[in-house]
Amino acid sequence: MSGEQPPEQVALAYDRWAPVYDVIFGPVFRRGRRLATDAAERTGGRILEVGVGTGLSLAGYRASNTVIGVDISAPMLQKAHRRVERLRLRHVGGLSVMDAEQLAFPDSSFDVVVAQYVVTAVPNPERALGEFLRVVRPGGEIVIATRIGAETGLRSRIEKLMMPVSNRLGWRTEFPWARYARWAASAPGVTLVDRRPLPPLGHFALIRYRKDQDPARTITSQAKNRQRLPELEKDGR
Ligand SMILES: C[S@@+](CC[C@H](N)C(=O)[O-])C[C@H]1O[C@@H](n2cnc3c(N)ncnc32)[C@H](O)[C@@H]1O
Repeated sequence: MSGEQPPEQVALAYDRWAPVYDVIFGPVFRRGRRLATDAAERTGGRILEVGVGTGLSLAGYRASNTVIGVDISAPMLQKAHRRVERLRLRHVGGLSVMDAEQLAFPDSSFDVVVAQYVVTAVPNPERALGEFLRVVRPGGEIVIATRIGAETGLRSRIEKLMMPVSNRLGWRTEFPWARYARWAASAPGVTLVDRRPLPPLGHFALIRYRKDQDPARTITSQAKNRQRLPELEKDGR
């Protein structure tokens, strides 16, 4: 897998972003965050936000939920702590430094796992997705806002060329949909329930997966995800 950075390097990149993150990335991802929190609210309850960063989305959850936020960068989380205090966000039940690839929560601890603009930043995205699936309860949802790279063509070539720079900044530019599709096709008990484009430029997407309720459905959903794989890859979706 090209473009992997060890977690310490990714953390360091975001430690450096922390002082200016809200100014640069606040407005550009605002709509995506809004749609992701709305999607999470549809299930609601106990929500884990992975890669919560400076906590830009936290005020968007209704007070009836309990939101736990984790992130690998302590300086990003310090800003989130300050935001929680300033805005008196009582529905935020905790903020901790934690690696998305090794979540320190028991299986099935959350109704929803939300990851906004995080999956392309972690060194091993499939391992992180596996952790999201482990900690969400059967019937719960994984809600992801993410960059989707081009599968082929000029944009794909440019995205590959930009990888050394984007890696140092803390994310991958090259990240085709096929990677999500392959993960879902091989993961036990997960069904893709939605995928829609997000701004800017439609190069991002809101993705929702549901964790299946029972093992019998697991087999069905894996077969179904596998069946959809060529169809989704062909569409470049
Ligand atoms: C692009 S920022 C997104 C922050 C926030 N979700 C938002 O919408 O503004 C990516 C975040 O993921 C965090 N991150 C990167 N790798 C991580 C990992 N392995 N585990 C947990 N968080 C990670 C970074 O520290 C950073 O806060």
